[in-house]
Amino acid sequence: MIADKFNRSLRDLRISVTDRCNFRCPYCMPAEIYGERYEFLPKASLLTFEEIARLTRIMVKLGVVKVRLTGGEPLVRNEIEKLIGLLSKIDGVEDLTLTTNAYLLKQMAQKLKDAGLQRITVSLDSMDDDVFKTMNGRGFGTERVIEGIVAAEQAGLSPIKINSVVQRGVNDHTLVELARFAKERGYIARFIEYMDVGNLNGWKLDQVVSAEEIVERISAELPLEPVPTESNYAGEVALRYRYADGEGEIGVIASVSKPFCGDCTRMRLSPEGQIFTCLFASVGTDLRTPMRDGASDEDLETIIRQTWGLRDDRYSEERSMLTEQPRKKVEMYHIGG
Ligand code: GTP
Ligand code: 5AD
Ligand code: SF4
Ligand code: SF4
Repeated sequence: MIADKFNRSLRDLRISVTDRCNFRCPYCMPAEIYGERYEFLPKASLLTFEEIARLTRIMVKLGVVKVRLTGGEPLVRNEIEKLIGLLSKIDGVEDLTLTTNAYLLKQMAQKLKDAGLQRITVSLDSMDDDVFKTMNGRGFGTERVIEGIVAAEQAGLSPIKINSVVQRGVNDHTLVELARFAKERGYIARFIEYMDVGNLNGWKLDQVVSAEEIVERISAELPLEPVPTESNYAGEVALRYRYADGEGEIGVIASVSKPFCGDCTRMRLSPEGQIFTCLFASVGTDLRTPMRDGASDEDLETIIRQTWGLRDDRYSEERSMLTEQPRKKVEMYHIGG
């Protein structure tokens, strides 16, 4: 086990397997910037599946029990099920899951399950076709995403969580509809406060709908009550609420109004092999170069230990005190949400 400067241990690893995505959500990869000519990482600079599995094995030794695959969009990485196969065989990985926009999920769900994926989280910002078309930047409707979710359910990738980033004036008028859809189908809807990740989305505080307001607005139509916090796992980011009628629950992720840096146990691995100790970090630590230069597992372990040992990130807690424009940050699609 290892501890950082604030005595937080390392328990979760979020692996971004690609910086590419088939969507262009304006808050993440605005289409004007990420157009035809944008140069994504070349294949040779991406970690191979064996390299990712090797680093995961080392981090499991250091305390990681939870692994999440993200992107970009993880399902656009070729043969991603092979990576899942490797990771699911690592002793000590207790929870193996993936966050996807579900556009390619219908044809892949069973393959992912067979390879050893346990559950899945789908990003779906609205059930309203017009709102969703704007929010994915590609004009795609919700139908294909819903078919993907149904396929995941049929394959047994449960519990299914649906993540929705709430932006005032963009999709906040559709959040009850999404809550109702998830409740009826037995999925867990999770509403995320819109964050100032990356450098491109022109984030403003007045675009954030607080978790408190989200709960109030849903509860006015579908009464909710808080789930006692004892039933949370260590480091859970969502505040949980259950429906008073006993059927289903939701989560709200209050990263802006109630930051949870105090028990943040997450490490992030980028597609080209850098580790980041915070979602809002400016720089990462390169593991690919030493790995390709012949470093042993012990050498890599030392670098990871040192990086974690120096970790003093608590960006979301500091945000409220910032007076000036923050430094340049890594983009969200590069290290996953
Ligand atoms: P479960 O294991 O299913 O509970 O999911 P999770 O807690 O790993 O959450 P998930 O990956 O679904 O994250 C939901 C959202 O919370 C992300 O998309 C981010 O927007 C936000 N989030 C997750 N981790 C962090 C973090 O370390 N810091 C901040 N500020 N936000 C985070
Ligand atoms: N604020 C909050 N969540 C975000 N995501 C992407 N950008 C932001 C942001 N600015 C979410 C995606 C997805 C997850 C990977 O991160 O919608 O659910
Ligand atoms: Fe793609 Fe997710 Fe970013 Fe949207 S938020 S562009 S789906 S990586
Ligand atoms: Fe962890 Fe950084 Fe998010 Fe705080 S802002 S919860 S330290 S990733």
